[in-house]
Amino acid sequence: MADQKIRVEALVIGAGPGGYVAGIRLGQLKKKALVVERDKPGGICLNVGCIPSKALINAAKIYDKVRHGAEIGILSDNLRVDMAKMQAWKGDVVSKLTGGVRSLLKANGCDYRTGTARLTSPSTVEVIEKDGKTTVEADHIVIATGSRPIEISGFKFDGKRIVDSTGALDFATVPERFVVIGGGYIGIEIGTLYAKLGAHVTVVEALPNILAGNDPEIVQLVARKLKKLGVEVVTGAKAKSWAEKNGRAAVTVDVAGKEATFDADKVLVAVGRRPNSEGLGLEEVGVKIERGFVPVDRRCATNVPGIYAIGDVAGQPMLAHKASREAEVVAEVIAGHKAEFDVRCIPAVIFSDPEVATAGLTAEEAEKRGRKIKVGKFPFAALGRAIANADTDGFVKVVIDAASKEVLGIQVVGNGASDIIAEAALAIEMGALADDISLTIHAHPTLPEAIMEAAKASLGEAIHIQNR
Ligand code: NAI
Repeated sequence: MADQKIRVEALVIGAGPGGYVAGIRLGQLKKKALVVERDKPGGICLNVGCIPSKALINAAKIYDKVRHGAEIGILSDNLRVDMAKMQAWKGDVVSKLTGGVRSLLKANGCDYRTGTARLTSPSTVEVIEKDGKTTVEADHIVIATGSRPIEISGFKFDGKRIVDSTGALDFATVPERFVVIGGGYIGIEIGTLYAKLGAHVTVVEALPNILAGNDPEIVQLVARKLKKLGVEVVTGAKAKSWAEKNGRAAVTVDVAGKEATFDADKVLVAVGRRPNSEGLGLEEVGVKIERGFVPVDRRCATNVPGIYAIGDVAGQPMLAHKASREAEVVAEVIAGHKAEFDVRCIPAVIFSDPEVATAGLTAEEAEKRGRKIKVGKFPFAALGRAIANADTDGFVKVVIDAASKEVLGIQVVGNGASDIIAEAALAIEMGALADDISLTIHAHPTLPEAIMEAAKASLGEAIHIQNR
């Protein structure tokens, strides 16, 4: 293919849940737009992150449930995991969704190309494709390049012993011994998954607690379940180095000044992610970069007119749904609408066991901001549906303003939390009062009733627990 020159109104670099959503929305708004992606459509989230991890987490959950089914009258013999089949099924799940992305872009009139993009001026981007180069002139450029795992010294990713989350979701067999460095979102989700599939898992976390930043009562519940699953959690521990020994990796860890060694067939390093802001020519065309991130205003605009950034590269929290919302905003801004990223909360979910889901402020955060609050709490153990599900570890906390009764935050720990948090986000976004949730009839028997009961508890009116 000879070198080409094209002109678009908007060029989006990256086709993750930020970039592809921006492309779809730009198409809907009748902007001539092009999305360029160097890898596969769908980004980390669809290809090697959120979606495949949830597929495997769900499969492991079914296996674990059946394995412990005797207490609810389900007996099984010779239950086992066919990892090759499970991985193939996971692959099908991913292909279905990534294929959908290309069709959706097309259906909305947005072009898509595979190539590596680099800015050569504030309105020109060079795209290197497999068989040539295209120079794209664009009125607006959206950087949606995402993030990548952080590597730590002594643990270079080799795809064999030492893997990142991508590698850990692609194991051909369940490792007998699995060491996870980092007890954050990724470490706990993937550690739990392999523990359920039968691995002996050790989580090494530098801080005094796993899942830092979450309500300590919630973390305690997750830690208790990890213990039950046989997961060894070593906190206050820093991974130092590793060496091949007797056919395994011997991982050396500094635990409060003392050295300890853990054997592993596989080691997952999940110590956070860093933004992909390098190699794009951003600094060369004057775009400010701070600690790797591209700072943006509420319109997702950078300091250079016509250049925008969304998603992980534009700052924390690195969550797919935050990227997708920013994508809608940036497309509308480019189309001349008065749009802004103006949200009251960004819900967050950890697909641990039990699941953790939060929206808005915790009691501690609200108090730090000087709010006088009331907290209503309702345990899953008092909830009909949770008892029928044989899954009663968990609770909902509703944090409200003591005077106005406005809902400031909702925290949920318990299986099903990932689904029931949507109501919490809606309530906070709409400025709901605890009474609004309390007065809304919730279908019975369902898990969201726990949110209703916790809201009632914050008003001293819970029905299925004693009010304090
Ligand atoms: P994280 O920031 O959640 O956790 C990393 C952990 O590693 C921290 O607790 C840190 O103290 C620990 N650590 C750092 N260096 C260490 C060392 N040398 N030895 C031992 N521990 C060490 O990062 P993670 O889990 O890698 O996830 C990255 C991001 O991906 C998350 O912040 C989140 O935004 C996103 N994510 C979201 C998910 C979801 O929404 N369900 C799932 C997975 C990831």
